[in-house]
Amino acid sequence: MSAALPRHVTLVDVGPRDGLQNEAAPVPTEAKIELVHRLQQAGCREIEVTSYVSPKWVPQMADNHAVMSGLQRRDGVRYSVLTPNLKGFEAALADRPDEIVVFGAASQAFSRRNINCSIEESIERFAPVVAAARGQGIKVRSAISCALGCPYQGEVTADEVEHVVRLMKSIGVQHCGVADTIGVGTPRRVQAAMERALRHFPAEDVSGHFHDTYGQALANIYACLELGVHVFDASVGGLGGCPYAKGATGNVATEDVVFMLNGLGIATGIDLDGLVDAAAYISGVIGRPPVSRVARAVLAKRAAA
Ligand code: HMG
Ligand code: MG
Repeated sequence: MSAALPRHVTLVDVGPRDGLQNEAAPVPTEAKIELVHRLQQAGCREIEVTSYVSPKWVPQMADNHAVMSGLQRRDGVRYSVLTPNLKGFEAALADRPDEIVVFGAASQAFSRRNINCSIEESIERFAPVVAAARGQGIKVRSAISCALGCPYQGEVTADEVEHVVRLMKSIGVQHCGVADTIGVGTPRRVQAAMERALRHFPAEDVSGHFHDTYGQALANIYACLELGVHVFDASVGGLGGCPYAKGATGNVATEDVVFMLNGLGIATGIDLDGLVDAAAYISGVIGRPPVSRVARAVLAKRAAA
């Protein structure tokens, strides 16, 4: 059975962005930079660093420029940032991201709460951002939030997901991220949503982004592997959450995913011990132990040795 699974998985560590955006206390800029450095040291080759959003909406990301310009970049690492509109894109451009992310939603209610416009208006805003980015040779990824359920609307159907997938494709987005913002998806429903993305984008340009609120994320990733999807977002230490999706907890922890993939013989290029070091580091900064099971287990084993 495992012969049918992908042999290599690309993990995008979204810890510095999704992981920290929801932290109530300001995280020092130097700590965000150090986290990125530790992730790249551990072998992460895709890192979502920050977002160029309104500092009134998400104060934690207000130091986007300082973080991006403080990085010691490594060859072969792709640094991505979120840009909701042209203002954000223009600010980001000065900091030379390798990739930008436009983020929409499969639910109208969440779109309004998160980015203050309807789905259709968001696509109108994204279109010039996508064109400008591609004109500069910057890759454009999209995220479709609430693809498995919405904190305001409730159920979200695969048809609603595919509607936004089509819209993203129509404006020239190159990669389609299917996001379970509130972690309510279960494997078969996740496959149904992913299949809609796979109708419009090749497998290498479809990814899953699973918050682990209900403990389903690893099962959902496995279900995606069965479809040939081999790109996933994950967050070091299991940090994360969206300020506009109350009650949603962190992303699936990168170290939990790496542990599972190591066991399946699927390569990621990421060193589990280095990742746990990064999780321990950022946990120390925010003053909470990592929620990730693997980080806790590895740290307990180290403490006992
Ligand atoms: P708006 O209020 O409708 O925007 O917000 P506006 O164009 O009317 O501008 C209002 C003010 O914001 C103005 O400033 C603009 O200059 C400023 P003022 O005149 O009041 O001083 N502004 C900006 N400032 C900095 N950067 C910008 C920017 N744009 C306008 N780019 C907006 C619309 C999109 C800006 C706002 O709703 C916003 O910032 N939302 C961000 C929401 C967010 O970051 N959510 C979390 C990330 S998404 C996520 O976590 C989900 C994901 O992980 C996948 C998943 O799990 O589902 C990706
Ligand atoms: Mg998220």
